[in-house]
Amino acid sequence: MQELRQEDSKVEVKGFEAKYYDILMDIITFGKYPSFIRKVIKDLNLKRDDRVLDFGAGTGRNALLMREYVDKGEIVALEIGEEMKEQFKKKCSSFSNIKLLDRRIDEPLDFKEEFDVVFISFVLHGFIQEKREIIIQNAFNALKKGGRFAILDYSNFDVDSAPWYVKFAIRKVECPLAEDFIKRDTKKMLKDFGFDGFEENFYFKNFVRLLQAYKPL
Ligand SMILES: C[S@@+](CC[C@H](N)C(=O)[O-])C[C@H]1O[C@@H](n2cnc3c(N)ncnc32)[C@H](O)[C@@H]1O
Repeated sequence: MQELRQEDSKVEVKGFEAKYYDILMDIITFGKYPSFIRKVIKDLNLKRDDRVLDFGAGTGRNALLMREYVDKGEIVALEIGEEMKEQFKKKCSSFSNIKLLDRRIDEPLDFKEEFDVVFISFVLHGFIQEKREIIIQNAFNALKKGGRFAILDYSNFDVDSAPWYVKFAIRKVECPLAEDFIKRDTKKMLKDFGFDGFEENFYFKNFVRLLQAYKPL
């Protein structure tokens, strides 16, 4: 089996791909991305006064959509990509309840029981397992008791039995870490860190999942 290295990851999106990230997502999903992500944010069931921590926030597209629900709460976005931060600031700087911090999510963070929701969208699959575990621990620590870790990412499925276009996307377009993530039992991984109780929503023929895991009261 091929040894997985963080250097093989494409999760630190840079250059052209970062500059045109939102448009590229719309194109590769044949125009389905805007309605898909709007549905996901609705399915998060955010409350008006929720405090949300967004791991690897990207261009701010998700933060803007979340803000439609969280008008009295706060969204704190963590992002390290230069092009991503630039776009995030352009989109979100006029909202006083959206804050952007230049912080790595794959190193220990110092948030303690401060957030109702930690959201991570298409980021967790792009790390080696050791770093995924640091990210999960960061989410657990940052959440208030009863809060939830909302992971939007690939679901767990058998890549060998998937349609050719899914195999192509996972094996030729994505980095090898994505297939490793898909093969692992994400719920078990979360249970090992103390999360208990799950809610799931599926999209794109069940190959993508919003998995919400609760921190016990
Ligand atoms: C595939 S993009 C997803 C962006 C956004 N979450 C979305 O769904 O549109 C991955 C994002 O994670 C950011 N990222 C990668 N590694 C990171 C790290 N260690 N700490 C914080 N952000 C990171 C990248 O810069 C990029 O914006």
